[in-house]
Amino acid sequence: GMIDKGNHRHFMMKEIHEQPAVVGQTLGTMIDPIQGHVTLPDMPFDLAKVDRVTIIACGTSYYAGQVAKYWLEQMARINVEVDVASEFRYREAVMPEGGLAVFISQSGETADTLAALRYAKSQGQHILSILNVPQSSMERESDVVLHTHAGPEVGVASTKAFTCQLSVLACLSIAIAKARGKIDDKEEARLCIALTEAPARMADVLNHEEAIKTLADDVAKARDVIYLARGLEYPIAMEGALKLKEISYIHAEGYAAGEMKHGPIALIDEDVPIIVIAPSGRLYEKTVSNMQEVIARKGQVIFITDEKGAASDGQDAVATIALPMLDEFVTPILYSIPVQLLAYYVAVAKGTDVDQPRNLAKSVTVE
Ligand code: G6P
Repeated sequence: GMIDKGNHRHFMMKEIHEQPAVVGQTLGTMIDPIQGHVTLPDMPFDLAKVDRVTIIACGTSYYAGQVAKYWLEQMARINVEVDVASEFRYREAVMPEGGLAVFISQSGETADTLAALRYAKSQGQHILSILNVPQSSMERESDVVLHTHAGPEVGVASTKAFTCQLSVLACLSIAIAKARGKIDDKEEARLCIALTEAPARMADVLNHEEAIKTLADDVAKARDVIYLARGLEYPIAMEGALKLKEISYIHAEGYAAGEMKHGPIALIDEDVPIIVIAPSGRLYEKTVSNMQEVIARKGQVIFITDEKGAASDGQDAVATIALPMLDEFVTPILYSIPVQLLAYYVAVAKGTDVDQPRNLAKSVTVE
């Protein structure tokens, strides 16, 4: 066919490896690395006048939206709500006129997301969609479209479309922060430079995938896996759990590390692998203290951190994955890769149909 797996065993692996290139391409459509600023297509409304953002999507695209909520609130100091389309469309959500509604979809054809888009339109919202497949139904019904340049994604479990969605959302967050006067030229340039470092760091992580592969046989024996993180990485914990469920059929949950004490801590024993995702930054110490609580209860921790974190807290975990250092703002893009690789190698160890997992479809065009 026109698209082949190259020298990879599965499309998913090929698509994981394409990420440095397609994230670079996607950022290249919006960031001028010399001037250090973000340029978005002309919009038929004024971004500076938007005072409320509603983000709607399904599946992996929804987790990209969750990351964007943290970015927008922190940088642009704007109200953001995020919901899954299947709930949003029937909720009778209150949407004051002039708000911005953002729809995220790889296919642009997901039935629930399209219905939610039509509802938002009927409520007088500006409709901005972040789409991968060109010329979709959502593209036709949006006021403005930002394209991810991931190229065709064949594996049912989304990988490269997700990191490209994050790249677009990071740029959109910078643009909204700038339009609202919440960041200056210097800060905009700093954020742009940090983002343009992502592809090279992603390639570094992909060059060290053996470290993750060796963990897969043990994780493959588990009945349940818990992913813990805070802040920007919390949605990556949920996405990591979703990836594992989708392709390895192992039950997994992504949980806010600080919420663990209100329930999931009861599940922890020596048979439950706990994936803790904690790059250095504002919430690092808090997440590490949650990791210590897990270790004290004999949880088998796989610690995904950076070089600094590995040096200071790596000794107590069963395994530690040390990623390169990167600005905190960009970490969700980088930390997506180890959770994708872990799910992939666990699925391969279990012998499942990685590219076509049971009961799932690439795009769900019926309710
Ligand atoms: C399906 C796919 C997922 C995807 C979701 C949303 O469930 O299996 O990988 O994240 O739909 O798809 P969309 O095309 O709207 O991003």
